[in-house]
Amino acid sequence: MTASKGQENLATKSFAHLTDTLISWYHQTRRPLPWRGTWDPYHIWISEIMLQQTQMERGVEYFNRWIATLPDVAAVANADEQLILRLWQGLGYYARARNLHRAAQEIVARFDGIVPHHYDDLLSLPGIGPYTASAVASIAGNHDVAVVDANVGRVYSRLFNIAEVVKSGSGEKRVRELAEAILPHGRARYYNEAIMDFGGLLCTAKAPKCGSCPLVTECLALQHGVVDERPVTMPKKARVVEKKLIGLIRCGNRFLIRNRAEGRLWAGLWDFPGTLLFSQVEKGFVEPAGLSRKRKEELLSAAADREVKVVRHVVTVNHQYTHHKRTVECWLCTADDCSDRTDEKWITLEEMEQFAFPAGARKVLEFLLERGFDSVAS
Ligand code: ADE
Ligand code: SF4
Repeated sequence: MTASKGQENLATKSFAHLTDTLISWYHQTRRPLPWRGTWDPYHIWISEIMLQQTQMERGVEYFNRWIATLPDVAAVANADEQLILRLWQGLGYYARARNLHRAAQEIVARFDGIVPHHYDDLLSLPGIGPYTASAVASIAGNHDVAVVDANVGRVYSRLFNIAEVVKSGSGEKRVRELAEAILPHGRARYYNEAIMDFGGLLCTAKAPKCGSCPLVTECLALQHGVVDERPVTMPKKARVVEKKLIGLIRCGNRFLIRNRAEGRLWAGLWDFPGTLLFSQVEKGFVEPAGLSRKRKEELLSAAADREVKVVRHVVTVNHQYTHHKRTVECWLCTADDCSDRTDEKWITLEEMEQFAFPAGARKVLEFLLERGFDSVAS
């Protein structure tokens, strides 16, 4: 296999030209990001957590606001969760924010309030996995640890023309081995930022700028004319269309939300009572006719575990997750039973901002907050 042939001489191969080129490219073009320059481990940590699943521009905006409000680890540890969630609002994946909060408390208790810069210490903290631990250890501490993220996987798959699926067990192993062999010792901080910037700015997922790439002479994918085919990805899963019916169930000026049970998708988040009407492979699927009011009332009463009456349609939103295309239809309802049960709350629209919802419900909530109570409930 070509893959194993390439691996044999990794240890003896010199990557000096590659790493020198990337580091000098970085020094010429580096983005002046607000956490760069000081190597402050607190800043690096916050930025790395924010940048997961978040675009750079948005990340910068949230980072600046976060640091202005919470200038050090102790401030995070002492902040109440509602402030943390507000600063995170709109970034999604709220577990990241809660883990930041818990990790800050541990850093105060175990590390005197200073974010550690050793890989193993970092890995022992909530919300810090191998990627974040290697990014903080290398960038803040300049420790010789390779970082591997989607950018790095893509860049190496092109430079070394990796024909394996990069996000498979053996593909990931190959990228990691390459990354470790290539890492220039003593310069991890610059090299890791360089390769991430290179993947983010030049060797991008779509339309890489090969015309202005300083590595054209060594890029094997370019030489073989297969840049567009690297990285090799898994065949796409068939798209699934889904429809969910949810009830905005009202008692006075409060609405019912429920905590999603353990073991379900998005467990621990809060959600409106609802039911999935269908979840089908998109191809050839014909959407069934709409439901009668009576049928909606039956379904929403069952979902809310209490008798509800449907008043009117509020909003329909669309959202995507992985390969699912979901429509969420929200109906205003009234209920006779306004009691609080386990894992339920009746809250006002304003209070909803303090709870973390899955993305579909979040979109509904944004609509509700924009309209305001009077418009929604009348
Ligand atoms: N993406 C995630 N972390 C990054 C970093 N430190 N530099 C550039 N891009 C990044
Ligand atoms: Fe990426 Fe193109 Fe440069 Fe190859 S030549 S490393 S594909 S930008």
